[in-house]
Amino acid sequence: MRITNEKNDIEYVLFSEETIRARVAELGKQLTEMYKDSEPIMVCILKGASIFYTDLCRQMKTQIHMDFMVVSSYGNETQSSGAVRLIKDLDNTIIDRDVVIVEDIIDSGLTLKYLKEILLSRKPRSVRTVCLLDKYECHPSEIGCDISGFSINNAFVVGYGLDYADYYRNLPYIGVLKKEVYSEE
Ligand code: PRP
Repeated sequence: MRITNEKNDIEYVLFSEETIRARVAELGKQLTEMYKDSEPIMVCILKGASIFYTDLCRQMKTQIHMDFMVVSSYGNETQSSGAVRLIKDLDNTIIDRDVVIVEDIIDSGLTLKYLKEILLSRKPRSVRTVCLLDKYECHPSEIGCDISGFSINNAFVVGYGLDYADYYRNLPYIGVLKKEVYSEE
């Protein structure tokens, strides 16, 4: 791992702050319309979704409830371990409620699959998934998200909540990380 600083480590900016803001506003509008009568429970999947989640919730012009889960499948690795660990569960029951899972990224799709399974088993009225970034080539289409901000290729992206080894989450944009930062050689 050769982390130096933001300027040196980012190959290029994939989505600027302005581009993200505009897309999040569109998603907020769409969700406002979908949930205008049902007070959905917006579930933030920490830590990666934290920044997207707070921006998205502020763009929803309707009553919502907030709850948080912590799961981890990557740790400090660049490849998913395949096993998702639930570190913090929801605080509240979701029986008969509309639930929206908010994720920063869908990669292998394992995290989302796991989350949907455990939340559906609790008998909510509905569960939908919203991801800011969809690495559409990396997962089977049947475990995709319902609503996505951007479809992207299989690049190593950081910023706006996304990390490498817990670095770069506070970048205001989404950038592609230089290979030498995370490769072994
Ligand atoms: C990242 C990301 C998603 C998941 C997506 O979380 O936030 O939750 O990986 O990958 P998948 O589709 O291959 O399952 P991570 O486990 O790195 O934790 P973090 O959110 O704290 O960064």
